[in-house]
Amino acid sequence: MATKYNYKQALHNPIFEIISKAAQEIGVDSYVIGGFVRDFILERDSKKDIDIVAVGSGIELALKVSELLPRKPKVQVFKTYGTAMLRFQDIDIEFVGARKESYHFESRNPVVENGTLEDDQNRRDFTINALALSLSKDNFGALLDPFNGLEDLKSKIIKTPLDPDITFSDDPLRMMRGIRFATQLNFDIEEKSLASITKNAERIKIISGERIVEELNKILSTDKPSIGFLLLYKTGLLDIILPELTALNQVEEIEGHTHKNNFYHTLEVVDNICPNTEDVWLRWAALLHDIGKAPTKRFNKKQGWTFHGHEFLGGKMVKRIFERLHMPLNQKMKFVQKMVIMSSRPIVLAQDTVTDSAVRRLVFDAGQDVDNLMTLCEADITTKNPSKFKKYHSNFDIVRKKIIEVEERDHVRQFQPPITGEEIMEMFNLKPSREIGILKETIKEAILEGEIPNEYEAAYELLMKRAAKLGLTPVSK
Ligand code: CTP
Repeated sequence: MATKYNYKQALHNPIFEIISKAAQEIGVDSYVIGGFVRDFILERDSKKDIDIVAVGSGIELALKVSELLPRKPKVQVFKTYGTAMLRFQDIDIEFVGARKESYHFESRNPVVENGTLEDDQNRRDFTINALALSLSKDNFGALLDPFNGLEDLKSKIIKTPLDPDITFSDDPLRMMRGIRFATQLNFDIEEKSLASITKNAERIKIISGERIVEELNKILSTDKPSIGFLLLYKTGLLDIILPELTALNQVEEIEGHTHKNNFYHTLEVVDNICPNTEDVWLRWAALLHDIGKAPTKRFNKKQGWTFHGHEFLGGKMVKRIFERLHMPLNQKMKFVQKMVIMSSRPIVLAQDTVTDSAVRRLVFDAGQDVDNLMTLCEADITTKNPSKFKKYHSNFDIVRKKIIEVEERDHVRQFQPPITGEEIMEMFNLKPSREIGILKETIKEAILEGEIPNEYEAAYELLMKRAAKLGLTPVSK
């Protein structure tokens, strides 16, 4: 963590001198605030944007800054909210006038009243996000920290500057932001703030799905998303946002038979997959892979607990969740659905002797997503029995090797039949008909079963035999 002596280092980018000069010219004080300062102190890579507060008009300051810059970048002005933005190098710089109210964060209500820097800091979400560095000439680089944000950074605490009930009712999304910061930074949420999230959880209902998902994606993009999901669970937020997940948090016992707690299992799978993929959609698949288990759970004396068809139902539930949370209903959704639907395939295959034809079918069905599916299924191994753990992993290693072998030989990943339907119609002078379907299926099945290679000659020979059985004769050319 950086010491108090080198805050000026944070301001080495020439843009800060220019903002300072512009502020002086229009006679306002200006400060850099929020994530930029927080991440500098934490020595953390900051995302490319900078928030500037002017004690006066943020718009006027932005226009002046642009004037002083050689290329006079375009200033985007949001008059209603009293904010303005410009791009310098590849950094977005946002200017806002100091406020007494925090409405501008949800961008729904217009500016209410101008305030001092301290008023503005007071209405921010967390003390660690309220730290400001002065850009004024006389104290350039001085830290302004009226709410002990620095102390909280050092003690790894997420805490609201005001009474948390006020901070969270100003913008209920902040409850999720707090949990997201706790997960990203591995901080604790101060007791009172956490209790307030629990108390106000219902208020999350007024927040749009898009904003909620943005936070969920950020939680899923951390090294250990379970930290966030456990906090969401503990505070009651998860039950409102993703009740399909909390429904998995139960263990029933009938006649001495129990089943595993699929909620905690799911969180383990999500953490397990993180070192092996950065793809947030594959992480979503890990999060949702077992959601069909709560509604399909049954008990019978013969088999004990079963979850028949949970993958298929889970796939349907994925679509409903994406719709409800206003997530993209595009290829990404289809991908998550496919992963959920296929999530048990590799393990079923690996429990027995791994045959070529089973692997070929897996590759055929999963297509280009087969490696992602394997990554998901490896993460799904959470058994605490060391010999089972070893066995499943070594079987998956065999599956991975066979995927490569089978693919080299038969190219089933993007399956193109060696003889097309059109060619078959031409050979036998047929119109689209049941026979064409049968002949095509015969060739595909023989390739998947490994009876013939995926080549024209072998397929032609088989085609002729099968056609003869159907009473078809090829037309001579
Ligand atoms: N802020 C707030 N309440 C919100 C959103 C933002 O008080 N609902 C304030 C915080 O001071 C925050 C600053 O606005 O630091 C900038 O917000 P944003 O860019 O969303 O977050 P960062 O803190 O910069 O962090 P990150 O980029 O990791 O999201």
